[in-house]
Amino acid sequence: MLPKPVTYVVAHGEIPIDPSSIHAAMQRRLAGEPLQYIRGKTEFFGRDFFVDDRVLIPRPETEIVVEAAIDRIEKGARVVDIGTGSGSIAVTLAFERPDLRVLGTDVSVAALAVASRNANGRVTLVASDMLAGFVEDFDWIVSNPPYIAAGEIESLATEVRNHEPRGALTPGEKGTEAIARILDRAGRARLILEIGFGQLEAVRDLAAAHHFNVDEVRDDLAGIPRVIVLSRHGWK
Ligand SMILES: C[S@@+](CC[C@H](N)C(=O)[O-])C[C@H]1O[C@@H](n2cnc3c(N)ncnc32)[C@H](O)[C@@H]1O
Repeated sequence: MLPKPVTYVVAHGEIPIDPSSIHAAMQRRLAGEPLQYIRGKTEFFGRDFFVDDRVLIPRPETEIVVEAAIDRIEKGARVVDIGTGSGSIAVTLAFERPDLRVLGTDVSVAALAVASRNANGRVTLVASDMLAGFVEDFDWIVSNPPYIAAGEIESLATEVRNHEPRGALTPGEKGTEAIARILDRAGRARLILEIGFGQLEAVRDLAAAHHFNVDEVRDDLAGIPRVIVLSRHGWK
């Protein structure tokens, strides 16, 4: 886009500007592309993250996952961020809690390329379908998994529906399939999971069926239950 910051352009009204790059960006925006992809960045937990259409744009409510992790995870713990996408959760945790050993996984190799740029060596990144292939035990699993029911995709904003990766949005018909799969493989790990609007009861049921206690539920700023903290019965 512009070779200079906007503040420079405003302060130097006399300089000529080549409108072609602005025009190209406007065309993309008019076609419904999210501004974050056009700018190539978004802010998460006070830091800039590189984003493009290979990853979900990190959302403010996912900062609650990070806050819960900072508050709850014990010093030196081994943590895996399942479905790391841009690396927003894993990289932020690595900055905020340098005592932790943080690993990020994603089934999308394209997403991991973006995460790698954001991680800059701070986080280990591994391509994996959930935790398939891991023999290692983790103390904690953090995740903002895909959780939108497939049937709801058509009702989403164009920016989301037509531009964000489908695999980052929906895991299937119910919306809770990825959460169920994470619980299947969680072992003795404790979990901090982001959940979708109206999913609390379904996730409580899944947790109970997998022998997990609900330790805490955190609401987002709209008062919607957004993050759930789980531990396996008898493992606290
Ligand atoms: C909702 S996005 C979250 C991205 C990022 N953690 C964030 O909060 O901004 C879900 C991520 O899970 C990944 N994913 C989907 N299915 C997966 C699977 N079976 N195993 C691992 N990752 C998966 C997607 O590729 C996507 O990057």
